[in-house]
Amino acid sequence: MKIIHYLLLTSYCLIFSSCSQEDVKLKQYYIDGQALYKLHCANCHQEAGQGLAGLYPPIAGSDFLKKNKDLVLCSMRNGLKDTIVVNGKTYRQPMPSNTQLQALDVAEIATYIYNEWGNEKVITDVKDVQKTLEKCSK
Ligand code: HEC
Repeated sequence: MKIIHYLLLTSYCLIFSSCSQEDVKLKQYYIDGQALYKLHCANCHQEAGQGLAGLYPPIAGSDFLKKNKDLVLCSMRNGLKDTIVVNGKTYRQPMPSNTQLQALDVAEIATYIYNEWGNEKVITDVKDVQKTLEKCSK
């Protein structure tokens, strides 16, 4: 795994000739986040983030994602039992909690989904996630 990461990062540097420490960290978070997303989230939200019928809301192109970042971070660990509206459609299935996710896992998954589907070009840093997770209402 580590070797693959190294090779991906090196080729990224060569292709984009941009290899600052921030870039490398972003890429590392993104790659780890993608793997964690596939493991913990894709069975419901699907690999391409399109969701599943009326049951599981889409993450790709979701207006909810952009407007509710703190709530999204909290939901990854604590689940979400609410009636929410995503792109004009109502969802009321509960999302289960996943208490095994550490702050770093949440930060990496957030970096992946917000770069892939939320128009962000920055890292969601573990230090900020830690602060947010401490403030989640349960
Ligand atoms: C068992 C299925 C399931 C799993 C696994 C799951 N979710 Fe969800 N997710 C849902 C459901 C259902 C909702 C809607 C919850 C509600 O209506 O209160 C939701 C809501 C969301 C939302 C807010 C709505 C939107 O689409 O923008 C985001 C973001 C999200 N999930 C991300 C994730 C991430 C990231 C993971 C992995 C850490 C994950 N989910 C794991 C079922 C799931």
